[in-house]
Amino acid sequence: MVNTRPWMHHGHFPTLLDVVELYNLGNPSPVQKKYLGTPRDSLIPKVDPILKKLNLSKEEMSDLLAFIETLSTPTRRIMAPDLPK
Ligand code: HEM
Repeated sequence: MVNTRPWMHHGHFPTLLDVVELYNLGNPSPVQKKYLGTPRDSLIPKVDPILKKLNLSKEEMSDLLAFIETLSTPTRRIMAPDLPK
């Protein structure tokens, strides 16, 4: 996990702390008010009410990051196998 920066599908999170902070804030998403009530209204993401602020302390976030780091495996170079001729 730690070797695949930047994270999320747009790659807009350069550190894993950014990702954890997003969840800690309850997945806030920007709402462009000018689109409310317009045909583009349906494109405004709605955050599900079950996603709430986690209120993790800095120490808890640091513990979570330490856990996520244990899920990583070292990068390996994949060598091309010798193929039959
Ligand atoms: C504290 C709890 C969580 C942590 C630490 C966490 C961690 C992460 C990380 C590190 C990624 C980036 C993966 C990558 O780019 O390779 C990720 C992506 C994602 N997570 Fe979570 N996650 C949490 C909770 C959740 C929850 C509750 C949901 C769903 C409700 C969720 C849904 C997703 C989705 C859909 C992605 C892919 C997003 C994208 O590629 O843009 N995660 N998560």
